[in-house]
Amino acid sequence: MKRTNLTPTEQVLEQVRSAKAQQALARWLERQTATVTPAGWTGEGFTEAQVLGVYLQDYLDHPSGVIIKIVEKGNRDKEFKAHKQAYKDSSRDSPRFAEEHLAELLDDMIQLDNGGSIIFQRVVGGGFDETQQLDKALIESLDPVAACRHIASSLLDEWNTHSEHSGSLPQDIGVVFDELLGQRIAPGGTIAAWASRHEGLLVEPRTWLSHGGQRLINPFALGARASLGSQLPKMIIMRGKTHGDLHPGNVLVSTATGGLSYFLVDLARYSASGPLSWDPVYLTLTTVAKFLPDLDFRSREALQHWVLDPAGRPDPAWPRPLRATGAGVHHATVEWAQGRGILPLWKQQRLLCLTAVALLLTGRDRLLTPESRTWFFWLAARAATQLVGEDADFTREDPLMLPESLIVGNVVSLDDRRAPDSVRPSSADHVADEAEPWNELLAELRVVQLDAPDPVTLAAHTEALRLRLVHTLRSDGVYRSTSIKLLAELAATLDEALRPGATSTDVRAACQHATLLRTWILGKLS
Ligand SMILES: Nc1ncnc2c1ncn2[C@@H]1O[C@H](COP(=O)(O)OP(=O)(O)O)[C@@H](O)[C@H]1O
Ligand SMILES: [Mg+2]
Repeated sequence: MKRTNLTPTEQVLEQVRSAKAQQALARWLERQTATVTPAGWTGEGFTEAQVLGVYLQDYLDHPSGVIIKIVEKGNRDKEFKAHKQAYKDSSRDSPRFAEEHLAELLDDMIQLDNGGSIIFQRVVGGGFDETQQLDKALIESLDPVAACRHIASSLLDEWNTHSEHSGSLPQDIGVVFDELLGQRIAPGGTIAAWASRHEGLLVEPRTWLSHGGQRLINPFALGARASLGSQLPKMIIMRGKTHGDLHPGNVLVSTATGGLSYFLVDLARYSASGPLSWDPVYLTLTTVAKFLPDLDFRSREALQHWVLDPAGRPDPAWPRPLRATGAGVHHATVEWAQGRGILPLWKQQRLLCLTAVALLLTGRDRLLTPESRTWFFWLAARAATQLVGEDADFTREDPLMLPESLIVGNVVSLDDRRAPDSVRPSSADHVADEAEPWNELLAELRVVQLDAPDPVTLAAHTEALRLRLVHTLRSDGVYRSTSIKLLAELAATLDEALRPGATSTDVRAACQHATLLRTWILGKLS
């Protein structure tokens, strides 16, 4: 039975999806003699982490706005350590940067038995709902190019006040390429999962590819095990502090001051000595990834050329955040490199990062469509071709022809395809009855209209879906498969938008998130 007279701490605990995390958090609060009160805010991330906003109050202390991030599976303290290191490095080199732009981590964290963790950090920007994710902020910003330019130059000038990498010796391109892609190109990695299916592409890579009558360098031929990367001249890599996962959702912008106050969150991939062009390229390409499905074929081709050379004017028909990010980042980074007289070095390093980040995105099977992933592959090939440039004297070999459907949809694991345990037939007698709700839920999810201007319309559109979600999620608090977790998140997102006091901005944000969740869920299950 559901209790109605819960204490604020119990209300927060009730929101925690995983039973294990719930118990661990309860024990932690007791140990700290602390209480929490829901702030009526939850974060929208791109992983399966649950992000809750609360007011935390230690014994005899005033409340403070804190984000609780619960990762159920993962690398225990990876994010905690990386975030802490980022904060410490930044406080040592540029204390104002740490204070003004990084979320502050609380000292303590909780490790969960199953490899997950709970970390606590202060809410940035002065309070919940005082910031917006960058891509959303750019839609409303008066001067979105200036906002992006400010952020990109602050990362270089204010964060990286000196190089972490003493005596940057020129490095073998193949070695750096492998460092940037890491396990993703190893057997079983996210890129290898699709690329190793094509003979001559990733494993024992041929040097050239044929694409629309052109010869392009096979980007995988840059790897250390192939010969191409090590035949190229060594490269000086400018290194320093990099966020590592700088997509628009991890850059928050103050709603009060626009692009001038910005904050970095989600620092799990922080490095003290990453290539400095990684973050600017990553921010640009993840923004591209967001808008690519909205563009037609011709625009996509033009966009590929613009990404390779953003000095030209972007097509005014492209979405505003996309043009602003590409142009702002370009101006800031070129200005930085010119100021040091290292523009050619920067351009080369940028091409290497473009190749690597574009390849990384080809492995994002949950977030991107096969078409977008294929687009990123050919971007990587074009960037690699420019990188190799004049040095390419490998023309005798025949190019590899790749099939049109280079990347096919996800291979769905059996576990995700079948109905979850809670609705799976419990006995032979009920087979038909019990499997039906699951199919009905999916059918409803396919057709439901997930855009609404206000809570009342959203409630009407989603009534049938919400009933089916309740039915599916009711019986079990411990979630087994990824799809069930996503369904729970969908239910929570809709509930949040329909709570008393939700504004039309909340509703629009919820609709966007719900649409994204639908794509993931249906992508996983069909
Ligand atoms: N310290 C913070 N202050 C304010 N908002 C935050 C903070 N940390 C996270 N958020 C919000 O929650 C969202 C998800 O958090 P994040 O750490 O990026 O999770 P994920 O790993 O799932 O992407 C962020 O995109 C941001 O909008
Ligand atoms: Mg994030």
